[in-house]
Amino acid sequence: MEAELEQLRQEIMRELTITSNPDDLETVRVKFLGRNGLLPKLLENLKDVPKEDRPLLGRMANEVKSQVSAAFDMKKQLLEQPKADYSTLDLTLPGREPAFGKLHPVYQTIDEIVALFKRMGFVLAEGPDIEREYYNFDALNTPPDHTARNEQDTFYIEQSLGEIERSKIEGKGRSLLRSQTSPVQIRVMEKQQPPVRIISPGACYRRDNPDATHAMMFHQLEGLYVDEGVTLADLKGTMEFFFRELLGPETKVRFRPHFFPFTEPSFEIDFSQPGKLIRGKEWLEIAGCGMVDPNVLGSVHYDTKKYTGFAFGMGIERIAMIRHGVDDIRHFTDNDLRFLRQF
Ligand code: DAH
Repeated sequence: MEAELEQLRQEIMRELTITSNPDDLETVRVKFLGRNGLLPKLLENLKDVPKEDRPLLGRMANEVKSQVSAAFDMKKQLLEQPKADYSTLDLTLPGREPAFGKLHPVYQTIDEIVALFKRMGFVLAEGPDIEREYYNFDALNTPPDHTARNEQDTFYIEQSLGEIERSKIEGKGRSLLRSQTSPVQIRVMEKQQPPVRIISPGACYRRDNPDATHAMMFHQLEGLYVDEGVTLADLKGTMEFFFRELLGPETKVRFRPHFFPFTEPSFEIDFSQPGKLIRGKEWLEIAGCGMVDPNVLGSVHYDTKKYTGFAFGMGIERIAMIRHGVDDIRHFTDNDLRFLRQF
């Protein structure tokens, strides 16, 4: 009887698998499970088996019954599921375009500027956003009483007692959020002898009150070129070429004497475009630059008799604002998709 039970179970399962519509399924059900079906009939024989075999066989029979009826229910559900209606499907319709993300306008500007400088042989360099006083100020020839070092101007990072002890030993000063990309100059020169020709874009942080042209976080692009015989003419030529390529061939560039601790002489670069006023002004300041101060070259142990260099730094947001006619720097960080989708 045990073998018969197993055989019947297999037969039922086989027929179940091949039935393909509800009517056939009903026929199969009646044949096996119906009142006079094969399974009930087989179970009737239970009463004829020896008494001691009955409990085991009874349990087996119940298992087969519940397994088989569960399989029937499942098959029934499957066959009754509504079939997909493909009659209105038009495979020739154009597909739906997925929404693609884009680079933030500030990063688009960075990419274009970087590509221009790469054409002139500059390579990318990187430095950390969390800097040390030494790299952000001291090595850049910035005196201890310079106003930029003030806690009102620069974000210092609170350090544990252990960290304070460690920084005293290292002699690199407190940790801070870099206020400019210029410290990357030092980090590169520390590791490499001239010739050095790098650019380094990245975020900077200052304790400015936010308004249309100031933000607590903004981006700069730093440049540095040190080699034998680098002169102010190289600096002017490089900057003029760059700004004309970026802003159009009719762009005029002028160098206005200025002061930066790490360059001597230092200049601010203004640009103007014929017939155009920007915020009511003909000339707009766009970058700082100068010949690297020998004290800076000395801090990284370069031979100041042999090498000279120039450096420059520009604000990326300001350039993006000029190029795209954006009137408020805060738009860049407001995360308003109506603004961002325009670029
Ligand atoms: N770091 C300066 C600033 O944030 C900009 C700058 C000026 C960078 C002159 C330079 C430079 O490399 O030579 O205002």
